[in-house]
Amino acid sequence: MIFTVAIDGPAAAGKGTVGRAVAAHFGFAHLDTGLLYRAVGALVLKGADPIAAARGLVPEALEQPGLRSPEVAQAASEVAAIGDVRAALLDFQRGFARREGGAVLDGRDIGTVICPEAEVKLFVTASAEARAGRRLAELVEAGHAASFDGVLADVKARDARDSERAMAPLRPADDAHLLDTSELDAAQAVAAAIARVSAALGQ
Ligand code: CDP
Ligand code: CDP
Repeated sequence: MIFTVAIDGPAAAGKGTVGRAVAAHFGFAHLDTGLLYRAVGALVLKGADPIAAARGLVPEALEQPGLRSPEVAQAASEVAAIGDVRAALLDFQRGFARREGGAVLDGRDIGTVICPEAEVKLFVTASAEARAGRRLAELVEAGHAASFDGVLADVKARDARDSERAMAPLRPADDAHLLDTSELDAAQAVAAAIARVSAALGQ
Protein backbone atom coordinates (compact mmCIF):
# COMPACT_ATOMS: atom_id res chain seq x y z
CA MET A 1 0.00 0.00 0.00
CA ILE A 2 1.22 3.50 -0.87
CA PHE A 3 -0.18 6.00 1.66
CA THR A 4 1.44 9.27 2.71
CA VAL A 5 0.66 11.45 5.71
CA ALA A 6 2.17 14.91 5.20
CA ILE A 7 2.59 16.98 8.38
CA ASP A 8 3.71 20.59 8.12
CA GLY A 9 3.80 23.53 10.47
CA PRO A 10 6.03 26.00 12.32
CA ALA A 11 8.77 25.23 14.85
CA ALA A 12 7.76 23.26 17.97
CA ALA A 13 4.10 22.96 16.96
CA GLY A 14 4.18 19.23 17.76
CA LYS A 15 4.75 17.87 14.23
CA GLY A 16 7.30 15.30 15.34
CA THR A 17 5.24 14.16 18.31
CA VAL A 18 2.15 13.72 16.13
CA GLY A 19 4.16 12.20 13.28
CA ARG A 20 5.87 9.58 15.43
CA ALA A 21 2.61 8.59 17.13
CA VAL A 22 0.66 8.34 13.85
CA ALA A 23 3.44 6.22 12.31
CA ALA A 24 3.55 3.91 15.33
CA HIS A 25 -0.26 3.57 15.40
CA PHE A 26 -0.61 2.60 11.74
CA GLY A 27 2.74 0.83 11.33
CA PHE A 28 4.02 3.43 8.83
CA ALA A 29 7.61 4.61 8.43
CA HIS A 30 8.38 8.11 9.78
CA LEU A 31 10.81 10.75 8.55
CA ASP A 32 11.48 14.00 10.44
CA THR A 33 12.65 16.03 7.42
CA GLY A 34 13.87 18.85 9.70
CA LEU A 35 16.74 16.53 10.61
CA LEU A 36 17.99 16.66 7.00
CA TYR A 37 18.28 20.45 7.17
CA ARG A 38 19.68 20.30 10.71
CA ALA A 39 22.37 17.84 9.58
CA VAL A 40 23.36 20.17 6.74
CA GLY A 41 23.28 23.15 9.12
CA ALA A 42 25.55 21.31 11.59
CA LEU A 43 28.07 20.60 8.81
CA VAL A 44 27.99 24.25 7.71
CA LEU A 45 28.70 25.36 11.30
CA LYS A 46 31.83 23.17 11.03
CA GLY A 47 32.87 24.98 7.86
CA ALA A 48 31.32 22.88 5.07
CA ASP A 49 29.79 24.32 1.90
CA PRO A 50 25.96 23.99 2.23
CA ILE A 51 25.27 22.65 -1.26
CA ALA A 52 28.14 20.13 -1.12
CA ALA A 53 26.99 19.08 2.36
CA ALA A 54 23.41 18.51 1.15
CA ARG A 55 24.54 16.55 -1.93
CA GLY A 56 26.84 14.35 0.13
CA LEU A 57 24.51 13.81 3.10
CA VAL A 58 24.67 10.24 4.45
CA PRO A 59 21.95 8.63 6.65
CA GLU A 60 24.37 8.37 9.59
CA ALA A 61 24.54 12.20 9.67
CA LEU A 62 20.93 12.22 10.97
CA GLU A 63 21.98 10.23 14.05
CA GLN A 64 24.73 12.60 15.24
CA PRO A 65 24.35 14.27 18.65
CA GLY A 66 23.69 18.00 18.93
CA LEU A 67 21.20 18.36 16.06
CA ARG A 68 18.50 19.65 18.45
CA SER A 69 20.48 22.68 19.64
CA PRO A 70 19.17 26.23 18.97
CA GLU A 71 22.36 27.09 17.03
CA VAL A 72 21.82 24.17 14.67
CA ALA A 73 18.12 25.09 14.30
CA GLN A 74 19.04 28.60 13.10
CA ALA A 75 21.75 27.25 10.77
CA ALA A 76 19.21 24.74 9.40
CA SER A 77 16.73 27.48 8.60
CA GLU A 78 19.46 29.48 6.82
CA VAL A 79 20.62 26.59 4.60
CA ALA A 80 16.95 25.66 3.99
CA ALA A 81 16.48 28.93 2.05
CA ILE A 82 19.06 27.81 -0.57
CA GLY A 83 17.35 26.30 -3.61
CA ASP A 84 20.20 23.89 -4.48
CA VAL A 85 20.19 22.55 -0.90
CA ARG A 86 16.44 21.82 -1.12
CA ALA A 87 16.87 20.27 -4.58
CA ALA A 88 19.60 17.93 -3.31
CA LEU A 89 17.26 16.58 -0.59
CA LEU A 90 14.15 16.23 -2.79
CA ASP A 91 14.49 12.73 -4.31
CA PHE A 92 15.25 11.07 -1.00
CA GLN A 93 12.14 12.62 0.60
CA ARG A 94 9.90 11.81 -2.39
CA GLY A 95 11.10 8.21 -2.43
CA PHE A 96 10.45 7.92 1.30
CA ALA A 97 6.94 9.39 0.95
CA ARG A 98 5.86 6.89 -1.71
CA ARG A 99 7.57 3.82 -0.25
CA GLU A 100 5.57 0.62 0.11
CA GLY A 101 3.79 0.24 3.47
CA GLY A 102 2.85 3.84 4.30
CA ALA A 103 4.92 6.85 5.36
CA VAL A 104 4.59 9.89 7.60
CA LEU A 105 6.84 12.88 6.86
CA ASP A 106 6.93 16.05 8.91
CA GLY A 107 8.48 19.35 7.90
CA ARG A 108 7.53 22.61 6.21
CA ASP A 109 6.83 21.74 2.54
CA ILE A 110 5.69 18.11 2.61
CA GLY A 111 2.10 18.76 1.52
CA THR A 112 3.01 21.56 -0.89
CA VAL A 113 6.24 20.44 -2.61
CA ILE A 114 7.52 17.02 -1.52
CA CYS A 115 4.25 15.11 -1.76
CA PRO A 116 1.30 17.18 -3.05
CA GLU A 117 -0.48 13.86 -3.73
CA ALA A 118 -0.34 12.84 -0.04
CA GLU A 119 -3.52 11.05 1.06
CA VAL A 120 -3.66 13.07 4.31
CA LYS A 121 -2.23 16.53 4.92
CA LEU A 122 -2.12 18.05 8.38
CA PHE A 123 -0.99 21.58 9.17
CA VAL A 124 -0.09 21.54 12.85
CA THR A 125 0.19 24.92 14.48
CA ALA A 126 0.03 26.73 17.85
CA SER A 127 0.67 30.23 19.14
CA ALA A 128 4.33 31.33 19.18
CA GLU A 129 4.16 31.59 22.98
CA ALA A 130 2.84 28.04 23.41
CA ARG A 131 5.52 26.73 21.05
CA ALA A 132 8.31 28.65 22.78
CA GLY A 133 7.16 27.29 26.16
CA ARG A 134 7.30 23.72 24.84
CA ARG A 135 10.70 24.17 23.21
CA LEU A 136 12.08 25.80 26.38
CA ALA A 137 10.96 22.81 28.45
CA GLU A 138 12.72 20.45 26.02
CA LEU A 139 15.95 22.48 26.03
CA VAL A 140 16.04 22.71 29.82
CA GLU A 141 15.37 18.98 30.04
CA ALA A 142 18.31 18.35 27.69
CA GLY A 143 20.60 20.53 29.82
CA HIS A 144 20.79 23.60 27.54
CA ALA A 145 20.88 27.07 29.12
CA ALA A 146 17.86 28.93 27.69
CA SER A 147 15.34 31.64 28.63
CA PHE A 148 11.70 31.97 27.52
CA ASP A 149 12.38 35.33 25.81
CA GLY A 150 15.41 33.96 23.97
CA VAL A 151 13.55 30.87 22.76
CA LEU A 152 10.53 32.98 21.72
CA ALA A 153 12.78 35.30 19.69
CA ASP A 154 14.44 32.28 18.02
CA VAL A 155 11.10 30.70 17.18
CA LYS A 156 9.75 33.95 15.71
CA ALA A 157 12.93 34.57 13.68
CA ARG A 158 12.77 31.05 12.24
CA ASP A 159 9.02 31.31 11.52
CA ALA A 160 9.62 34.56 9.61
CA ARG A 161 12.54 33.15 7.61
CA ASP A 162 10.70 29.90 6.83
CA SER A 163 7.48 31.67 5.77
CA GLU A 164 9.03 34.49 3.75
CA ARG A 165 11.64 32.58 1.73
CA ALA A 166 11.13 32.26 -2.03
CA MET A 167 11.79 28.50 -2.17
CA ALA A 168 9.12 26.21 -0.69
CA PRO A 169 7.92 28.65 2.00
CA LEU A 170 6.01 27.37 5.01
CA ARG A 171 2.30 27.51 4.21
CA PRO A 172 -0.65 25.12 4.52
CA ALA A 173 -1.55 23.21 1.35
CA ASP A 174 -5.02 24.17 0.09
CA ASP A 175 -6.33 20.73 1.09
CA ALA A 176 -4.56 20.52 4.46
CA HIS A 177 -6.51 19.96 7.68
CA LEU A 178 -5.61 22.59 10.26
CA LEU A 179 -4.73 21.26 13.71
CA ASP A 180 -4.25 24.11 16.22
CA THR A 181 -2.67 22.56 19.31
CA SER A 182 -2.45 25.78 21.41
CA GLU A 183 -5.08 24.44 23.81
CA LEU A 184 -4.37 20.73 23.36
CA ASP A 185 -1.92 18.50 25.15
CA ALA A 186 0.20 16.11 23.11
CA ALA A 187 -2.17 13.17 23.63
CA GLN A 188 -5.17 15.20 22.39
CA ALA A 189 -3.25 16.39 19.31
CA VAL A 190 -2.20 12.81 18.54
CA ALA A 191 -5.80 11.56 18.93
CA ALA A 192 -7.09 14.22 16.51
CA ALA A 193 -4.44 13.29 13.93
CA ILE A 194 -5.12 9.57 14.23
CA ALA A 195 -8.85 10.23 13.72
CA ARG A 196 -8.09 12.10 10.46
CA VAL A 197 -5.87 9.33 9.14
CA SER A 198 -8.37 6.62 10.15
CA ALA A 199 -11.11 8.46 8.27
CA ALA A 200 -8.94 8.69 5.13
CA LEU A 201 -8.15 4.97 5.38
CA GLY A 202 -11.90 4.25 5.66
CA GLN A 203 -11.46 2.74 9.11
O1 CDP B 1 8.31 18.62 15.60
P1 CDP B 1 7.98 19.96 16.20
O2 CDP B 1 9.16 20.86 16.31
O3 CDP B 1 6.82 20.64 15.54
O4 CDP B 1 7.48 19.70 17.69
P2 CDP B 1 7.78 18.49 18.69
O5 CDP B 1 9.24 18.35 18.84
O6 CDP B 1 6.98 17.29 18.30
O7 CDP B 1 7.09 19.00 20.03
C1 CDP B 1 7.63 19.97 20.85
C2 CDP B 1 7.23 19.67 22.29
O8 CDP B 1 5.91 20.06 22.56
C3 CDP B 1 7.35 18.21 22.73
O9 CDP B 1 8.05 18.16 23.95
C4 CDP B 1 5.91 17.77 22.93
O10 CDP B 1 5.74 16.83 23.96
C5 CDP B 1 5.21 19.06 23.30
N1 CDP B 1 3.78 19.18 22.97
C6 CDP B 1 3.28 18.76 21.76
O11 CDP B 1 4.04 18.23 20.91
N2 CDP B 1 1.95 18.92 21.43
C7 CDP B 1 1.13 19.50 22.29
N3 CDP B 1 -0.16 19.66 21.95
C8 CDP B 1 1.62 19.94 23.52
C9 CDP B 1 2.96 19.76 23.83
O1 CDP C 1 11.68 20.92 15.20
P1 CDP C 1 11.50 22.30 14.62
O2 CDP C 1 10.13 22.49 14.10
O3 CDP C 1 11.97 23.37 15.52
O4 CDP C 1 12.49 22.41 13.38
P2 CDP C 1 12.79 21.33 12.28
O5 CDP C 1 11.52 20.73 11.78
O6 CDP C 1 13.82 20.39 12.80
O7 CDP C 1 13.38 22.21 11.09
C1 CDP C 1 14.57 22.97 11.22
C2 CDP C 1 14.59 23.95 10.05
O8 CDP C 1 14.71 23.20 8.84
C3 CDP C 1 13.31 24.77 9.88
O9 CDP C 1 13.34 25.99 10.59
C4 CDP C 1 13.24 24.99 8.37
O10 CDP C 1 13.96 26.13 7.98
C5 CDP C 1 13.95 23.78 7.80
N1 CDP C 1 13.05 22.82 7.19
C6 CDP C 1 12.57 23.07 5.91
O11 CDP C 1 12.87 24.10 5.34
N2 CDP C 1 11.80 22.16 5.27
C7 CDP C 1 11.43 21.02 5.88
N3 CDP C 1 10.67 20.14 5.22
C8 CDP C 1 11.87 20.76 7.20
C9 CDP C 1 12.66 21.69 7.85
